Amino acid sequence: MKRLAACLSVSWSAMVIGIVQAEPVATAKEGKTVVSFAQTVVPVLRTQCATCHMTGSEPGNMKLYPSAAYDSIVGVESVTTGATLVTPGEPESSYLLHKIKGTHLEQGGTGARMPFAQRPLPEDVVIQIEQWIAQGALDN
Ligand code: HEC
Repeated sequence: MKRLAACLSVSWSAMVIGIVQAEPVATAKEGKTVVSFAQTVVPVLRTQCATCHMTGSEPGNMKLYPSAAYDSIVGVESVTTGATLVTPGEPESSYLLHKIKGTHLEQGGTGARMPFAQRPLPEDVVIQIEQWIAQGALDN
């Protein structure tokens, strides 16, 4: 009986771990959760980034307020590295994502992690932006 209980508890935890790990992959692959640029990404850019990246004349040359943000980042080259800020379908080749993850220096980038001199964006927000890029960086 003891053995059965141990066995059950092992498979139960395996199931729980399985669920926790499988969920995000499944949703991204099956496209169940399509990240909306307007509803999810824009509010982050507006509240966390546009305070500094407003007119496009600030360092980085980006306008990150809602009506200008998309054209300012998708398919646009970074002024400092020449890497693309957001490459649709390719998060690993999106310099803006590296800047918010803090992996920009490994990519031959410069400067600080964004948002500049502030707390990094929460992990789940970064994951949503990454998913939006992986799903084709749609203007949706
Ligand atoms: C407090 C001001 C400030 C805030 C807030 C801020 N930035 Fe920046 N950003 C800067 C400055 C200054 C630079 C240039 C120096 C550097 O790269 O560290 C920069 C550079 C960048 C670059 C590099 C551009 C290039 O071509 O090299 C990117 C990408 C960027 N910011 C994205 C963001 C994003 C996305 C946010 C919001 C999550 C954000 N920034 C928030 C000030 C800010």
